[in-house]
Amino acid sequence: MKMEENTKFNQKLRNHLVQYSSSTSIHGFKYLTEKRSKIEKTIWSLMLLILLSGCMFMIYKVYHKYESCPVVVSFSTKDTPLYQIPFPAVTICPESKYSRKEFNYSKVYFEIMQDKEINETELKNFYYLTLLCDPDLDISKRANKTVDDQFFQVLDQVKLNVESILHFCNFMGKFYSCDKLFTPILIDQGVCYSFNNLGRDELFKKHVFHYSDYYHVPNNSHNAYDTEKGYETNSGVDTHPKRALMSGADNSLTVFFNYDTADTDFICNSFLQGFRVLIHNPWDVPRLTKHYFRIPVSKVVVAAIEPEIVKTSIEVRKFPPEKRKCYMNNERPLKHFKNYTQPNCYLECLTNYTLHECGCVQFFMPRDNLTAICGSGSGSCLIRAEEKLKLKDLEFKILGQTFCDCKPSCTNLRFNMETSHSDFYYKEYFEAHLNMKIDDDGFGDISSPTFG
Ligand SMILES: *[C@@H]1O[C@H](CO)[C@@H](O)[C@H](O)[C@H]1NC(C)=O
Ligand SMILES: *[C@@H]1O[C@H](CO)[C@@H](O)[C@H](O)[C@H]1NC(C)=O
Ligand SMILES: *[C@@H]1O[C@H](CO)[C@@H](O)[C@H](O)[C@H]1NC(C)=O
Ligand SMILES: *[C@@H]1O[C@H](CO)[C@@H](O)[C@H](O)[C@H]1NC(C)=O
Ligand SMILES: *[C@@H]1O[C@H](CO)[C@@H](O)[C@H](O)[C@H]1NC(C)=O
Ligand SMILES: *[C@@H]1O[C@H](CO)[C@@H](O)[C@H](O)[C@H]1NC(C)=O
Ligand SMILES: *[C@@H]1O[C@H](CO)[C@@H](O)[C@H](O)[C@H]1NC(C)=O
Repeated sequence: MKMEENTKFNQKLRNHLVQYSSSTSIHGFKYLTEKRSKIEKTIWSLMLLILLSGCMFMIYKVYHKYESCPVVVSFSTKDTPLYQIPFPAVTICPESKYSRKEFNYSKVYFEIMQDKEINETELKNFYYLTLLCDPDLDISKRANKTVDDQFFQVLDQVKLNVESILHFCNFMGKFYSCDKLFTPILIDQGVCYSFNNLGRDELFKKHVFHYSDYYHVPNNSHNAYDTEKGYETNSGVDTHPKRALMSGADNSLTVFFNYDTADTDFICNSFLQGFRVLIHNPWDVPRLTKHYFRIPVSKVVVAAIEPEIVKTSIEVRKFPPEKRKCYMNNERPLKHFKNYTQPNCYLECLTNYTLHECGCVQFFMPRDNLTAICGSGSGSCLIRAEEKLKLKDLEFKILGQTFCDCKPSCTNLRFNMETSHSDFYYKEYFEAHLNMKIDDDGFGDISSPTFG
């Protein structure tokens, strides 16, 4: 009974198969069920098998590619007008970390080396400044492991004023007093000045401590630019951050530097004089020990900038960040920063790691007012922590993982830059025009035209 049912079922299945294979458009199936010799049938089945496995292999390859990298990069067919892109932020750091009129670092250095008796406030200031000059100095091992908020007071006192290092500023053909355009910020190079950066209220979360008016952009500090959506539609021409309105050297930022060579303290500065400049996104905290270009003394430097925007289409947002390998603005909350960007994430990662290794953070790192600031007594720990983090990050990368988990932003603005420089004949110019002799202060010039 059961046998009979089984054979009936088999017969039905067979009939269906024959019917299917005689009418299907897939080549070769027909010959398997037709009346043909065994050899012919075997050859046909073999061929079909080979073709089928080839097909499977191709499908697997395509699927694998989709799994590992589902995103296709292509050029946008629509131009983004220049006025929809913010003017880059320009951060300028003098190589001299402090004014020699306020403090003489090398004097105290030699006094310590010769074991002389030293005025206590001077010694304290010396150890504070060691953090900027060379935190790994041998004698700094005697200093305290942490410093108090007085450190910022001293730094503020001995800093080079914006008026003394930047003489004239010209933006889009209009002259401004440089302190109107440049905001003092406290970064790894000490006190630096930044143009068109976002202020502390837009960049950092509320709990982050700032000394005095550092990182404070006065007045129009309402941020009209969203990294994902661009400028607000009715934000007008005069926005913050400023728009890159037009291209060309006549629509640039031009800065005349003034470098007092007497301010160079070669004990602190090692081999360098002049300025460091970085062109970056207004919403990134710059680190000028890592990326910069140099303005030499008595030279004109011109930087031509080309913006490059990476955008991510809405379809790609469906994928998890691990697949698309980038973060949207709100997918990776940072502890100290309001919005996610890759450089800020790396800075926070280093901050976390330094706090973990040394029990304190460096003076330029974001922190709340209860976290200790490392003094020069922790100098070797700070340097070791950064090196260890680099190594760890590399080790993780080689294993295909990430230590910091700082993926790029899905919407990203980058500035590619080309610089050229020539001599600056300011002495000859002033001699010819005003019939006056100029002393040996250095001048430099940087202008940053923006090309679409
Ligand atoms: C700083 O101290 C050094 C060494 O004592 C001395 O040669 C130099 O003239 C001093 N500089 C200033 C500006 O006081
Ligand atoms: C240390 O020197 C400064 C000036 O350089 C002076 O004002 C201060 O009174 C001195 N302090 C001591 C304890 O001698
Ligand atoms: C080190 O810390 C002690 C106590 O907090 C303080 O009295 C001293 O002035 C500090 N030394 C330096 C060089 O900052
Ligand atoms: C900011 O506003 C104050 C008064 O509200 C004004 O005096 C000052 O010039 C403004 N500064 C800038 C840079 O616009
Ligand atoms: C930061 O995020 C907030 C909320 O998502 C957004 O309104 C703001 O425009 C963002 N800032 C920048 C600079 O993108
Ligand atoms: C830093 O540590 C805090 C917790 O202490 C964490 O929320 C944050 O994500 C960490 N930041 C990075 C970049 O790893
Ligand atoms: C830290 O900041 C809080 C408010 O954010 C304030 O109440 C507190 O007094 C500050 N503590 C110190 C030591 O400055």
